[in-house]
Amino acid sequence: MSNETGLDLDSLTPEIRELFQTDIKEYFYLMQLYNAAIKEVRTKLEILDEEFSVRYAHNPIHHMEYRLKNPRSILGKLKRKNLPIRVESMTEHLYDIAGVRVICNYIEDVYRVAQLLTSQDDITLVRCRDYIKTPKANGYRSLHLVVSIPIFLAERTAPVPVEVQIRTIAMDFWASLDHQLRYKSEELVPADLKERLRRCAETITALDNEMQAIYKELKEGLPKNE
Ligand code: GTP
Ligand code: MG
Repeated sequence: MSNETGLDLDSLTPEIRELFQTDIKEYFYLMQLYNAAIKEVRTKLEILDEEFSVRYAHNPIHHMEYRLKNPRSILGKLKRKNLPIRVESMTEHLYDIAGVRVICNYIEDVYRVAQLLTSQDDITLVRCRDYIKTPKANGYRSLHLVVSIPIFLAERTAPVPVEVQIRTIAMDFWASLDHQLRYKSEELVPADLKERLRRCAETITALDNEMQAIYKELKEGLPKNE
């Protein structure tokens, strides 16, 4: 069995195969839906970005990344949350199976993209976590939305959740180094490295604010007497 999701039964480890055994068909079917939802959200964002560039000569989106959570990560998260290893637990409790990451040039673009996306008629905002206004203790900053989008099937319409992470290039730069740090187990990372990285997050915030301010002043035109 092979499909657009890049998943095929043979690639599943025996453990995952056994755990999803009774639900495997349903699992593949759902993955197809999540994949379709990613496509829809990406297209919406691409259209918004194009419209913006035509209207205002500015692209709010620098680039996008996307991924379908792999079976191993789904299994790991269900176990971590002590949920039964069933597709129902997955659909009811995991909102990040379909994930789109939007990397913007400036902070204002982050909020503009979020606002424009969530104000579309067929999009429902399920959850919003603003780690830009309230950064995590380690310094992580990003705007996290969970949106629900209807997927039109042959016989019915299914609402599908997609996690959309929106951040600036600088925040993304920071998050990728933090991600590498997280791969090491907690005790292996010296406290001073964590502290230096946290301070980098502050530097990045100042940088993002200053870049935004300079860009704005450029756009609005220099004062007439200069
Ligand atoms: P997860 O179980 O990790 O999905 O967390 P959650 O459901 O409580 O959501 P949360 O908003 O905390 O984070 C969701 C996702 O944001 C993660 O899977 C990461 O991709 C990203 N993320 C959150 N916190 C951090 C962080 O401190 N550093 C980095 N690099 N990424 C983070
Ligand atoms: Mg996650």
